[in-house]
Amino acid sequence: MKAFNQADSTTPKSALITGAGGLLGACMSEHLRAANWRVIPCNHQQLDITDEEAVRRSVLEARPDVVINCAATADVDRCERDVEWAYAVNEKGVRYLARACRATHAELVHVSTDYVFDGSKAGFYTQADAPNPLSVYGQSKLAGEGAAQEELEPTYLIRTSWVFGVGGKNFGSRLFAYVRAGAKLKGVIDQTSIATYAPDLAARIAEIIGSGEHGLYHITNTGVTSWYDFAIYALELAGMSEVVIEPCNRADLNQTAPRPHHSAMRCLLSEKLGLAPLRHWRDAAVDFVREQLAKN
Ligand SMILES: NC(=O)c1ccc[n+]([C@@H]2O[C@H](COP(=O)([O-])OP(=O)(O)OC[C@H]3O[C@@H](n4cnc5c(N)ncnc54)[C@H](OP(=O)(O)O)[C@@H]3O)[C@@H](O)[C@H]2O)c1
Repeated sequence: MKAFNQADSTTPKSALITGAGGLLGACMSEHLRAANWRVIPCNHQQLDITDEEAVRRSVLEARPDVVINCAATADVDRCERDVEWAYAVNEKGVRYLARACRATHAELVHVSTDYVFDGSKAGFYTQADAPNPLSVYGQSKLAGEGAAQEELEPTYLIRTSWVFGVGGKNFGSRLFAYVRAGAKLKGVIDQTSIATYAPDLAARIAEIIGSGEHGLYHITNTGVTSWYDFAIYALELAGMSEVVIEPCNRADLNQTAPRPHHSAMRCLLSEKLGLAPLRHWRDAAVDFVREQLAKN
C-alpha cells in the first residue's frame, strides 16, 4: 500500500468537481487547487448531472484523472415531497458520472451519507452494518452508491455525516445567519451523530485518492454530538453565550422526513489502512467559528 499523504507520479493530478458551488464542492476545489492540481470546478449551472449528454461531454472534454461528485439534493425534506427529483440527482446523476468515468478511464469519488442507516444501533455504524434508510433522501443516496458500483469498479465511496462549514446552507452557517437575523433558536437534543468540518473532509478525500486505496469509507471528524450541543459550543466560541437556544426534540419541528436517531459512524477501512482519525469536531469548530466571524 502507498503511504497516505505521499503523492507520487501515479497520483491523480486533475479533478472535475461536480456541485462545486456547494459547501464540500467549494472546499474540495480550494484544497486541490492549493495542492497544485488542475481543478475543473462545475457548479450546478455549469453541469447538471441529471443531463447524461452534458455529463458525458464535460468529462470527455476535461479528461480529468478523477471526478469528485459533490452534487446532491441535500434538502432532506424536499426529497420526501419530490421523490423523482431526489432520485434523478442522487441516483441517476451518479450513474451518468460513473459511465462517463468508465468511458474515459477516470476514477470516481462519490460522497454519500450516514442517513443510509436507520439510527437504531446503540454504537457506531461500520461498513459491516446493513443500511436501512428511513427517508427518500437516504434511500436515493443508497441507490446512488449502488449505481456507482454497478457502472464502475473500483470506486471511492465516502459516507460522511453532518457536514458544516462557512458558506452555503449547512447547520453551522445557518446558526450564525439566524443569530444575525435575531431569530428564535431551537436546537434538537434527541438526534446525535458526528459533525464533520468540510475542509477536513476535503483534505481526507484528497489523501485517500492519493493513496489509491479504493473502497467504501466512513469519513467524519471525531466525537458524537447533538445539534443543540454543537450550537451551544459554537456560540460560546463566538463569544455569544448570551444567545438563547431552546432545546427541543426532532418531532417538535414537524419536519416531513424522518431522520436517524443516532447515526455516528466508524471507519473499519481507515483503521485497516492505518489512517489516523480526524480531529475532534470541537477542535474543527474553533477554525469554523474563526472563519465565520472573519467573514461577517
Ligand atoms: N450537508 C450534510 O450535512 C451532509 C451530510 C452527509 C452527507 N452529505 C453529502 O455530502 C455531499 C456534499 O454535500 P454539501 O453539504 O456540500 O451540500 P450542498 O452545499 O447542498 O451542495 C450540493 C450542491 O449540489 C448541487 N446540485 C444539486 N442538484 C444538482 C444537479 N442536478 N447537478 C449538479 N449539481 C447539483 C447544488 O446546487 P444548487 O444549490 O444550485 O441546487 C449544491 O451546490 C453530498 O453528497 C451530500 O449528500 C452532506
